[in-house]
Order: sequence, then C-alpha cells, then structure tokens
Amino acid sequence: MPATLLPPLTTAKSVPARTDVLAIGVTGSKETPTVDAPDAVRRATEKALGVTLEDAVRASGLAPSAGATGVLLGAKGQRLLLVGLGEEEATPAQLRRAAGAATRAAGRLGTGLAVTVALPTTEPEAAQAIAEGALLGTYTYQPISGKDAGEPGVSAITLVTTGRKEVEQAIATAQVVAAAVAQAREWINVPPNLLYPESFAEQAREYVRDTKVTVEVLDEKALTKGGYGGILAVGGGSARLPRLVRYSYAPRGAKVHLALIGKGITFDSGGLNIKPGDSMLTMKCDMSGAAAVFAATRAIAALGLSVKVTAYGALAENLPSDTSYRPSDVLTMYGGTTVENGNCDAEGRLVMADALARSTEDQPDVIIDVATLTGACMVALGEDIAGVMTNDDELADQILAAAESAGESFWPLPIPQNAKEQIKSQVADVKSTGATRYGGALTAAAFLREFVGDHSWAHLDIAGPAFRSGKEDGHLSAGGTGVAVSTLVALAQSYAN
Ligand code: BES
Ligand code: MN
Ligand code: ZN
Repeated sequence: MPATLLPPLTTAKSVPARTDVLAIGVTGSKETPTVDAPDAVRRATEKALGVTLEDAVRASGLAPSAGATGVLLGAKGQRLLLVGLGEEEATPAQLRRAAGAATRAAGRLGTGLAVTVALPTTEPEAAQAIAEGALLGTYTYQPISGKDAGEPGVSAITLVTTGRKEVEQAIATAQVVAAAVAQAREWINVPPNLLYPESFAEQAREYVRDTKVTVEVLDEKALTKGGYGGILAVGGGSARLPRLVRYSYAPRGAKVHLALIGKGITFDSGGLNIKPGDSMLTMKCDMSGAAAVFAATRAIAALGLSVKVTAYGALAENLPSDTSYRPSDVLTMYGGTTVENGNCDAEGRLVMADALARSTEDQPDVIIDVATLTGACMVALGEDIAGVMTNDDELADQILAAAESAGESFWPLPIPQNAKEQIKSQVADVKSTGATRYGGALTAAAFLREFVGDHSWAHLDIAGPAFRSGKEDGHLSAGGTGVAVSTLVALAQSYAN
C-alpha cells in the first residue's frame, strides 16, 4: 500500500505564485458564458490576451455543461483550465464532479503540477464538494509494473477560499472523506491474486493502527469455533481461507450505535455454479462493501464523530474445488438458522447472514449492510444507482438524505409481501435463493432480513456503482469507485449532530 493515494491539499486566500494550472469556473451558455475568476487573475489574463475572459471562452467554443473542461494560455505562461459548472447555479454534486474533471484534466497536462482550484467555495457544502472532487479526480490505480511510476500529474492542490471558519472545517472534513474513498478504491482495484481474505484482513488491521478504531480478526479456526457456517462454506473452496474482521469505534458519550456490515468476496468465480468468463472479469470488485465499511469507519473515527460504530467485513474467496460447498448443501449459520444453498453464486448473502447475525449481539440501534449483492439490482437500477432495501422506512429516508448530501445515487426498492414464500425450503429453515430470477435483488434482501431480528436495518446493494468498467467521469475514476463511503460518513454525521 502506498503511503498516500492523493496529493496534499491546502487553502489560500489568493492564487499562489507557484501555480502551474489554475482552474476557474464557467457558467451560462456557449454563446454568453460567464467566467468566475479571481480579480487579479482576470486583470492579468485579459491584459495578456487583449480580450475579456468571456470573449476568450466564447472563442474557445467550450459549452459550460457541468464537468466540461478546456484550456487557455493565461498571463506568464500559466495555464487556465476552464471548468464548466452548468447553466444554473451548480449543486454540490455538480461541483464535486466539475472539480474532479478539473484535476483529472490538469493531471493530463504534465507531471508534478501545482494546481490551484478557484471555484465557488463560499458555502461550506460547496467547499466540501469541491475539495472532495478535486482530490478524488487525481486518483488512478497505478499499474503494477517493474518500471518506475514516475511523478504524478498533480503533485499539490490549492483551493482558493475566503478563510471562513466553517468553510475551512468543511474542507478538512473533505480531506478525511476523500482519503477514505481513495483507500476503498485502492483495495477494490488490487487484483485478486494479491488481495485475498488473509491479506485484506491484515491490511484492514494495519489501516486502523494508531487510530481510535480497535480491530479483531477471526481466522478459519475461530470461525469454526464460533459456528460461522456461511462464511466457512463460501470460503471453503479456496486454499485462501476466510476471515471475519470486526472494527469497533466507541467514543464516550455516543448516543447512537451504528453497525456496518460489508460483503468482502475478494473474488467471485460463482463457485460450482461457475460464472461465464466475461462475467468473472470484474469480480475482484466483490469486496467493495467491506472496503466501504472499513474506510467509512476510519473516517468517522478520524472526524471524531460522536457515534459508536461496529463494522464487520466478511471476507472469503468463492472458488470451485473439491472442498467447495455445493448447491443443495444445508448450512448452519451463525446463531443457528439453517439454510439450503440454492446457488453457489449467491454467496454474498451467506457471508452477510453470518455477519449480520453476529452484529445483532452488539445491540446496535441501526444495522446497515453494504454489498455488491445482485446482478438483478443492476438490471433494475442500472450501473450508477445503488438500491436501498429496509425494514424501517425512516432509516431509508435518512440514508437517502445522507446520499443526496454526499452526491451519491441511491434509490429505494421494496421487499415484497410474498418474499418469504419465495425463500421457503423443504429441507432447512430458509433457502438462499428464490424460485424465479425475477426481482432477484428483493429476494436477496428478504433473505438477509431473516438474520437481523427486529433491529432497524437497511441493505445497500451497490452491485451497479461499485465498479466502473468504462471510463472515468469527473471525480469517479475507472475501476473501483468507493461508493457508499461518503454516504455512510454523512449518515454518521447526521446522527452525531
Ligand atoms: N457478486 C455477484 C453480483 C454482482 C454482479 C456484482 C455483477 C457486481 C456486478 C453476486 O454474488 C452474484 O453472483 N449474484 C447472483 C445471484 C443469483 C445466483 C441468485 C446474480 O446476481 O446473478
Ligand atoms: Mn456470486
Ligand atoms: Zn458475489
């Protein structure tokens, strides 16, 4: 793990002398753009160009839609990076995306660049979004290579602000959140031969060394002793045996206890119900839920939020072998519920069931699980939106509000009345899969619900947005996205307030 995944970010009241690239915002239309540049920059640049900034932008043909970028040569050879902020006043989500597009574009202009971002940071929410976007726009997964990686494109970021206390505070929060999101992305992007349950657990332990988070790791012996039949069955097909990681952050005086459960399948081949090759190619991302809850918990602790958090990462590798579990096996889960395994590719819900059942013993007020659980959720909501399923509509509202402020897209899905019927078994307490593939995301949620008792619980199916096979977009890099990290931090913030 490299020490830092993101460049340092500082704030300043004016544009620092050493600025290789200066990002400024453009709003309005292609025909009548408005440029929002610091006065000194405007004066010097207009003098050098001999035209107004607006005329220069109009001549460049840049359409100021959110996230569009263009480059002008400013005074003294400085590059002015024009960043579209949309026609209307930009929302924090648009600013996050635009700031990400800005530093990403800046990074392509050279190496070791000092980038100054002069976007509208007057409001704390806007400033936080811009800082997060600017930082995350620089993230890329470094190719694994014998060759030296060399200097990164962007080596430092300066945000121009008025220095107002609330704004500086929001930017400090953004730095913690962005670092957490970047760590989640990094874990997701590491190939599955290099990140497996044991190594992931060790890194998760290392990640919270010297923080207020304590960690406990159950290895295969402890899992056997504890009766974690789901995790053991799923992980049993691989020579790399499963782990259950438990994080605890317990600040004095916390009024809310939040349990976070993450799916940590380091590679999902489908097991004996093996996936077609193409469907397997992105399955290193199947530990995104665990990465998200580890990263979010550390961020919540770093921010010193007054919320107790107990997080679990259920780590296993799902492979076919002579020690694999089988379709039709009956498993005894943590806590004693028996499960008929309907399909070895429905492994996520089995590891989650153990971890959910275990988490209820901590007596949390709220349980939230995060999992790349079903292809069906992607069929329902596409690749950019995560599903929220719950037994508590008020909790869903809180999560949707947190997601909105974090700039992440979540949408509620129901757990149907007849879902229990669907998962009835002739040979066990419950079956892991439904009778049909229709509504598969909902059936999976109904199965998980069996393991949370009467706790207030929500299930976040992030199968769509966890991993971008296509290209980067704004603050989102290709590969792992770290989705759910900032929503979980925002939710904890709403409980702490
Ligand atoms: N990890 C997959 C779900 C997934 C698919 C995540 C695509 C991200 C992208 C999960 O373990 C899975 O294989 N689910 C099956 C369940 C089925 C066998 C009931 C699915 O969705 O097909
Ligand atoms: Mn699977
Ligand atoms: Zn899976």
